[in-house]
Amino acid sequence: MVFAHSHLLGIADLSRAEIVLLLDEAERYANGEGEPDALAGCVQVNAFFENSTRTLLSFELAGKRLGAHVLTMAVAQSSVAKGESLADTARTIEALGATAIVMRHPQSGAAAVVAAAVRCAVVNAGDGTGEHPTQALIDALALRRRFGRIEGLTIAICGDIRHSRVAKSNMLLLTGLGARVRVTGPAMLLPAEVPDGVSVLPNMDEAIADADAVMMLRVQHERMTDRIELSVADYHARYGLTCERFHGAAPEAAVMHPGPINRGVEIDGALADDPARSMILAQVALGVPVRMACLAAVHKHR
Ligand code: CP
Repeated sequence: MVFAHSHLLGIADLSRAEIVLLLDEAERYANGEGEPDALAGCVQVNAFFENSTRTLLSFELAGKRLGAHVLTMAVAQSSVAKGESLADTARTIEALGATAIVMRHPQSGAAAVVAAAVRCAVVNAGDGTGEHPTQALIDALALRRRFGRIEGLTIAICGDIRHSRVAKSNMLLLTGLGARVRVTGPAMLLPAEVPDGVSVLPNMDEAIADADAVMMLRVQHERMTDRIELSVADYHARYGLTCERFHGAAPEAAVMHPGPINRGVEIDGALADDPARSMILAQVALGVPVRMACLAAVHKHR
C-alpha cells in the first residue's frame, strides 16, 4: 500500500487503506521505530495564521525528529501585513527552498489554495471550519491504542459541531473505519449536514448513552457571527460533560478533547484530570508520531 498524495489537505481525500497506513506508521514512530531520517535535507516551513499550541509544537518536533530543517514563520511580522496574497506568500516560501509547508489558516479551503500555487508538499494544520486531518488521525490512534480497534465503537462528539474542523475530520475518519458516531450540542451549533453513518441527537444524555468514548469540543466563538444565548453556567449544565452525566456512558468509557479545554464550560476539570478516563494528554503526546508519519508520507510521494 502506497500513500498516493503529495499533500495532506483533508481526511475526505484519503482511502480507508491510506488512513490505516498512516495510523500504522504513526504507531511505529510512537514505538521508536520507523525511518529516523526520512526528512534529512528537507526544509519544513510552519505558516500558522491562527493561534496554536499543540499542533505547532508537535509539527516542529516531528520535522526535527525526522531530520528536516524546520522554520516557523512569524506571521504577525511577515509581509502578509503589507497585503501579500496567500498564494504569493506560499510561492515565496517555496522559492526559499521549502519542501513542505504546514499551514493553519482561519479560511476554509486555504490549504487547498496554497497546494494549487506550489509544487512542494502542503499539510493542512487546520483551515477555518474545513478540516483538521492530523487531529483526527491522532484521535483515531488514541482510540485504537485504548480499545484495540475502531470498528464497532460508539463515539459521541459533543459541543460546537457546526464550527469544528476537528468534528468534521473525525466524523469522516471514524465512520470510514467502521465506528458509530453520534453528534450533539445546542441546536445553533449542530451542522446542517453530516456524513453517512453519523446520527445527530440534540439531547446530550441520549448521545452519550453507552458510548465507548465521549469527545468534547469547545465553543468556537471566533467563528460565530451570532452570540450563543446561553450563560456559561447554563451551557455547562445542559451540554457540559459533568462527572454525573458521564456515568451514562459505557462502563469503561474514555474522555477525549482535542484541546484547548475550557474547564467548567464544556468539561468538568475533575474528568479532564482523571487518569483512568481522560485521554486528553495521551492525544497531545500522539501528535508528534502522527505528524511524523504524515510528513514522511507526503515527502515520500514526491
Ligand atoms: N487541537 C489543536 O489543534 O490544538 P492547538 O490549537 O493548540 O494546536
